[in-house]
Amino acid sequence: MLLVKDMKNLKGKRVIVRVDFNVPQKGGVISDDNRIVAALPTIKDLIAKEARVILMSHLGKVKHKEAPEVVEEQKKKNNMAPVAVRLGELLGSPVHFVNATRGEELKKAVDELKDGEVLLMQNTRYEKGEEKNDSELSKEWASLGDAFVMDAFGSAHRAHASTYGIPEILKSEGKQVAIGYLVEKEVVSLDKVVNVPADRHPYIAILGGFKVSDKIKVIDSLLKKCDKVIIGGAMAYTFQVALGKKVGNSPYEADQLEYAKRMYDTGKILLPVDAKIANDFDNPTDIKIVEGDIPDGYQGMDIGPKTAKLYADEIKKAKTVFWNGPMGVFEKDEFTDGTVAVCKACAELKDAFTVIGGGDSASAAKKLGFKEKFSHVSTGGGASLEMIENDGHLPGIDIIK
Ligand code: 3PG
Repeated sequence: MLLVKDMKNLKGKRVIVRVDFNVPQKGGVISDDNRIVAALPTIKDLIAKEARVILMSHLGKVKHKEAPEVVEEQKKKNNMAPVAVRLGELLGSPVHFVNATRGEELKKAVDELKDGEVLLMQNTRYEKGEEKNDSELSKEWASLGDAFVMDAFGSAHRAHASTYGIPEILKSEGKQVAIGYLVEKEVVSLDKVVNVPADRHPYIAILGGFKVSDKIKVIDSLLKKCDKVIIGGAMAYTFQVALGKKVGNSPYEADQLEYAKRMYDTGKILLPVDAKIANDFDNPTDIKIVEGDIPDGYQGMDIGPKTAKLYADEIKKAKTVFWNGPMGVFEKDEFTDGTVAVCKACAELKDAFTVIGGGDSASAAKKLGFKEKFSHVSTGGGASLEMIENDGHLPGIDIIK
């Protein structure tokens, strides 16, 4: 697979770079620019090679099936302009922002780009054909570039026009297609939790978050690869109900009970033995610890202290750890203990490779001050899970190979 650092003769060439600038933002204020920062090495390398850099990314969701005024509202909400400003600040030089996703305005801006300059196009999802990998759209976008770099790990599980259609066309035309520094680092690191040799066991997976149904495929896959799968977060209640326990008002998925029981019967799943519960999610005034059943009128908000110790003791044995999904409602200070215990146990490991699979767990580790203690924090939540599910394959990376 060609790496951006090995790309040759790029002076004056138009290089399309698919980045993942799907950053959290509200009203144009970006609350976490990690993903922009993570793309800088590739962009700087291309600037140094005097390429003409054309950046493309999606931002948020634009549902084209909705009424036109709803679509317009979603486009307004997910305007890429503030990202161009932030990128310019980080690069220390202005970035040309093009408020168009196809047509003459975009073509003209690309034609006027000088060697070593950077352009960011408006949100790829403004185009209806993006998520459908529409061939006409892919052709038009591919015609803007002489080469392509995939550096959007967080979007590599999507076979869309900008992640798949463009490189497919440019590759068939014999043009250089490569992966960027961010994707290279993700692939190398995630391979260590996809293909785990015998001497890197025990391999422990920690899964939390809301729904079992979102994680069915990854649970299946992890049960084959791991020695133990630790379950926390709201998804634990589906397992508890499947085992005949009462969970009070905690959310659970009635249609996943059979699946949860079957998974539990593999003998590899560890479930909470106690819980920190509250009388109300939004306004918890009565908080306590219970073992066993959760009474009516209460819902689980975090794993309890006995579970935290049980999980930490298990994690202490690990040589490989993959973590996706917090143990409790870590956004509220009263319910961070379980997630802190897991972070701490991972941080204290001496000879282990520890990976956070993006999303909420990455935010939790950052908020709780443990992010730097992990071997790798992925920039892609969905993408890292699918990488495990599909044994290291993602469409947006496979097409480059
Ligand atoms: C992410 O945030 O996980 C990626 O940017 C992908 O976004 P998507 O789920 O909207 O495709």
